[in-house]
Amino acid sequence: MDVLFVSPGYPSEMPEFVRGLSQVGARVWGIGDQTAGALPTMARRHLTGYLQVPNLFDELDVVERVRRWVGRRQVDRVEVLGEFWMVLGARLRQALGVPGMTVEQTLPFRDKEVMKQRLDAAGIRTPRHSRATSEAEIRAAVERIGYPLIIKPIDGAGSANTHRVENAARLEKVLPQLRSVREVSVEEFVDAQEFTFDTLTSHGEIQYYNIAWYRPRPLVARTNEWISPQVIALRHPQQAALAKGVEMGYAVIKALGFQDGFTHMEWYLKDDGEVVFGEIGGRPPGARQVDQMNYACDFDSFVEWARIVCHGEMAARIERRYNVATIFKRAQGEGRIVHIQGLEQLRREFGQYLVWDNLLPVGAQRRNWLQTLISDGFLMLRHPDLNTCLAMADRVGTELTLLARP
Ligand SMILES: Nc1ncnc2c1ncn2[C@@H]1O[C@H](COP(=O)(O)OP(=O)(O)OP(=O)(O)O)[C@@H](O)[C@H]1O
Ligand SMILES: [Mg+2]
Repeated sequence: MDVLFVSPGYPSEMPEFVRGLSQVGARVWGIGDQTAGALPTMARRHLTGYLQVPNLFDELDVVERVRRWVGRRQVDRVEVLGEFWMVLGARLRQALGVPGMTVEQTLPFRDKEVMKQRLDAAGIRTPRHSRATSEAEIRAAVERIGYPLIIKPIDGAGSANTHRVENAARLEKVLPQLRSVREVSVEEFVDAQEFTFDTLTSHGEIQYYNIAWYRPRPLVARTNEWISPQVIALRHPQQAALAKGVEMGYAVIKALGFQDGFTHMEWYLKDDGEVVFGEIGGRPPGARQVDQMNYACDFDSFVEWARIVCHGEMAARIERRYNVATIFKRAQGEGRIVHIQGLEQLRREFGQYLVWDNLLPVGAQRRNWLQTLISDGFLMLRHPDLNTCLAMADRVGTELTLLARP
């Protein structure tokens, strides 16, 4: 089996998917904009070949180059797990005659309006919404939908350029900031808790799902630097309180006709129990949430995903053992990390429950917290009991400090 894999080196979990494919016996051919030498070691080790292209966003150029590179060789699958290149993947499939999602099938996963229209037609509760390409259209949508509302890019990711607008005064402040955005989605603001519904799906049937809880909701985490955002993969996603979200998740996969691979949906749970659809990607979640799933169930979902892609079914029996918390840290100050405070104490107390220390080391340049969810790194910990897990996560939030100095 020969698999073309777009961007094997970025984001950071991609090499693990390449490993998964090679472990189930596929030959993996990478396409990316990094030099071969810059690829992470794991990606390099598991790739059979690699084509560097000048610009992954220039879809037509990439398709042409890949066509020439492939020549008469047979390609069985084209896999793209990065949000921005989903349509490129579909174009490559089309150009090379490879089965899998078409451009037409991919669009509802990339365009937040098409997505919600499809789901509305299937009777799924979405926020009231409208597409707008000009200031006048935004104003008209605001009239229809009413405050408070959310304005965001139609194909956004990472909460970039996403604004909560409570009133007319705020709208006037936000409008100039949207001039660079070609097209936006205007939505009713849903005041709620936010969860994921992530699946491994094969032949349109969900084989495994995960629910993660965002603490606090991403928009809040993304607008307050002092917060250490948490993502909690829940040990008991089957609990009654989440049942309507799961039901919605199943309905969404069906309505969009997703077939094989990972999906990542976000949904809202209101205080009155109502569930509202947020968004869905035809790809795995980022920020190492796939690793969280692995730590929750002690399985290797990178390999299980690869089995689905190559052989149409997964092999693992799922045992849900742990709640897994990831706590992302943002250093105080600018420049390089000079000190990490509180880590030794937490390490001593949490012992085996602390499964991953991904913090930037002392001496490293701190990252731009607005541009990366991972910020200055994270700790990942797990515990069978949810309250214990949350208490530990909160202590990482308050007691662990990274200090930076120019
Ligand atoms: N209609 C809404 N009501 C309330 N909050 C919303 C709404 N739409 C978006 N948000 C907030 O903004 C965040 C980002 O929006 P959304 O998930 O649609 O965009 P994204 O940029 O693709 O996100 P991601 O960070 O998952 O890539 C959401 O997680 C949520 O906190
Ligand atoms: Mg989102």
